[in-house]
Amino acid sequence: MSRFRRILRSRLALALGLPALTLPAFAVGACGGKTVIDPPISSGAGGATTAVGTTTASGQVGTSTTVSSSSGNSCTGTEGSAVLCLDGAPNPCPEGDPASQALVKQLQLACCVDPDRPSCFLLKELHCGPMAQSPEKCCYAVTTQIEGCAIPGRPLVVDGAVVTATAVCGDDAWCSEWMPDLSILDSAQRAQLAERWTADGLLEHASVASFSRMAIALMTFGAPPSLVDGCHRAARQEIGHARDAFALASVYAGEARGPGRLPLPANLPLPNSFETLAIETLREGCINEAIAAIDAAARLACATDPAVRAVLTRVAEEESEHAELAWRCLRWLLEQGDASVRRALDAELVNLKRHNGNDPETLSQIVVPCLESLLDTVTPAEPTAISQATPA
Ligand SMILES: [Fe+2]
Ligand SMILES: [Fe+2]
Repeated sequence: MSRFRRILRSRLALALGLPALTLPAFAVGACGGKTVIDPPISSGAGGATTAVGTTTASGQVGTSTTVSSSSGNSCTGTEGSAVLCLDGAPNPCPEGDPASQALVKQLQLACCVDPDRPSCFLLKELHCGPMAQSPEKCCYAVTTQIEGCAIPGRPLVVDGAVVTATAVCGDDAWCSEWMPDLSILDSAQRAQLAERWTADGLLEHASVASFSRMAIALMTFGAPPSLVDGCHRAARQEIGHARDAFALASVYAGEARGPGRLPLPANLPLPNSFETLAIETLREGCINEAIAAIDAAARLACATDPAVRAVLTRVAEEESEHAELAWRCLRWLLEQGDASVRRALDAELVNLKRHNGNDPETLSQIVVPCLESLLDTVTPAEPTAISQATPA
């Protein structure tokens, strides 16, 4: 997954015409793990701990995770105590906060939608480690918690709120032809996957309208045809994402599912300044589409069903395209807008560095360096007819 992140960052730099970006260190303080020492779990008087079915070298975690000890404590399941081993076995194994940070990163990359692993795992607590009985593996006793991982693609935001349609049953108009394998799933797993893919479908469906509005907004500011065309192409791709998601949701649910009417106001507000459009583009496109691409790639790395893999492969590639488009739009807005655009983006950069959000690695390794480089590269423009125009 770090490879996908590097590739995405290179693609974005290329799309922006920027030089290769330097990789910053992982943000200190981004780790949500709490480091504590828990002697009973480590080897010694409290009883030797053995790990049966620990997390794999690829960072996958899930239902097979089991920890047992000679004292009789045993935990098997999707949540609770587990042994987590770091990829690549760094030497020496990190301890304390650096270990927590490495584990948090690895768990983020293992966020999956898969018949066996339908949710994300977050690090709740690092109990102890590296464990004495497996020094070559850098393994730790941890507690994880499950958290759903929504596709954070381009949202449709109206008056500060994310808008989606409500799901309706019995209508397969928004379903493509994908047929995931149900034979290895029980009813609870099917229901969970149906809800997850329905939620994804609704967000993808709303993204269609979000790109349509972006195209109109760009036109009100005199944007070139390449950017307007990019928005229309992205909107069509989002229709495909929505149809694929509803197809999977329908099969898992055992009934057709699709979106109802999109609840939009009669007078849909549009950004009324370069500055406003630039900030929306950064937040909804540059950040969210990058997170969406990485999320899809992480889920793809864990998925085994051919239909699910096909859907996620397409989403990962096309969300990367959408992130590229957003950065190209942002560059144009910065070039064409007045000093207020730069001031707004400078302030946003400060906020991004201060608050790491729900995907600190993407922010610190992709968004912040891209934005810094863009601000360094684009020189303030003389006022033009376009920059001084205000939409009616
Ligand atoms: Fe999408
Ligand atoms: Fe997208």
